[in-house]
Amino acid sequence: MDESLVGKTYVVTGATSGIGLAAAGLLVRRGATVIGVGRSPERCQAAEAQLRALGKDAQAHYCMADLSVQQEVRRVAGEIRSRTRTLDGLINNAGTFTYWLTLTPEGFETQWAVNHLAPFLLTHELLPLLQRAARARVVTVSSGSHYRTRLRWSDIQLRRRYNCLLAYKQTKLCNVLFTAELRRRLGAGANVAAFAADPGLVVTEMGFKHTPPLARWIWDRRRRGGIPAEESARGVVFLAVEPSIQGSVDIYWKHGQPKPPDRYALDEDAARRLWELSSQMCGILGAWGGAR
Ligand SMILES: NC(=O)c1ccc[n+]([C@@H]2O[C@H](COP(=O)([O-])OP(=O)(O)OC[C@H]3O[C@@H](n4cnc5c(N)ncnc54)[C@H](OP(=O)(O)O)[C@@H]3O)[C@@H](O)[C@H]2O)c1
Repeated sequence: MDESLVGKTYVVTGATSGIGLAAAGLLVRRGATVIGVGRSPERCQAAEAQLRALGKDAQAHYCMADLSVQQEVRRVAGEIRSRTRTLDGLINNAGTFTYWLTLTPEGFETQWAVNHLAPFLLTHELLPLLQRAARARVVTVSSGSHYRTRLRWSDIQLRRRYNCLLAYKQTKLCNVLFTAELRRRLGAGANVAAFAADPGLVVTEMGFKHTPPLARWIWDRRRRGGIPAEESARGVVFLAVEPSIQGSVDIYWKHGQPKPPDRYALDEDAARRLWELSSQMCGILGAWGGAR
């Protein structure tokens, strides 16, 4: 039987649909308190009501934030800090696929901002809460699309030559590079462990949001080979809660099993360079809590 999570608190981003909503449901059913983050007030309200209906003691609270905007990431982190002193896990799940080149109000390419910079900055902001837990996790939802990809350092946001698929693949590669570098900076034996999750191909609405008819048609066909969100979410939640993997050296996991990521995702120079660039882009100077 699954261990009870009563007394534990997890933040799940992108918890209004798909894998994030399913992961939040699994956590709440096991007794955890979930702080969900979503961008739409209506979807946040509906998801909160859905999770609270899971039982009379169900603990779910939603915070609204458009994670493409750093100011919003910082604000929602402050809201989370005002709700809890300690966090047992942060699941960086929110993600987007943007067909056309679009820039955020702060001037970043949208996939770069939501899929990479937001998890980087939110983890930075919430690390002190995670460090207060006896044992905590940062799980970042990556993708099998990170394989066979390289970072285009000279045009990292692909703003000069935008290609939506390449932009998505790059950000999912960044999720693994970030996880590996976070581990190195926290050091062996840290109470916070970091993992990158490959959720597999999942039947969600992701490819239908803000995409043209052709992209929706392709996603409609492609996702037919996928698994239900709840099945995929089990592997993500496993990384957030399973006690036996706290000290594991494996970074990248699919459905509860370790899997070698692409070799480039383990490149220490690339990870360090990405960390420094992301710190500059987020205006983070100096050390990160215990992470150097
Ligand atoms: N589906 C797959 O086959 C697949 C495969 C590999 C990896 N993934 C990854 O899995 C994660 C979850 O995706 P999904 O398939 O479950 O898609 P989804 O159902 O579209 O869920 C994405 C979540 O992120 C939220 N979100 C998007 N942009 C946001 C923003 N700017 N600010 C705040 N929240 C935002 C969405 O909010 P709304 O509800 O308002 O749209 C939604 O809650 C993503 O990181 C994705 O890259 C998915």
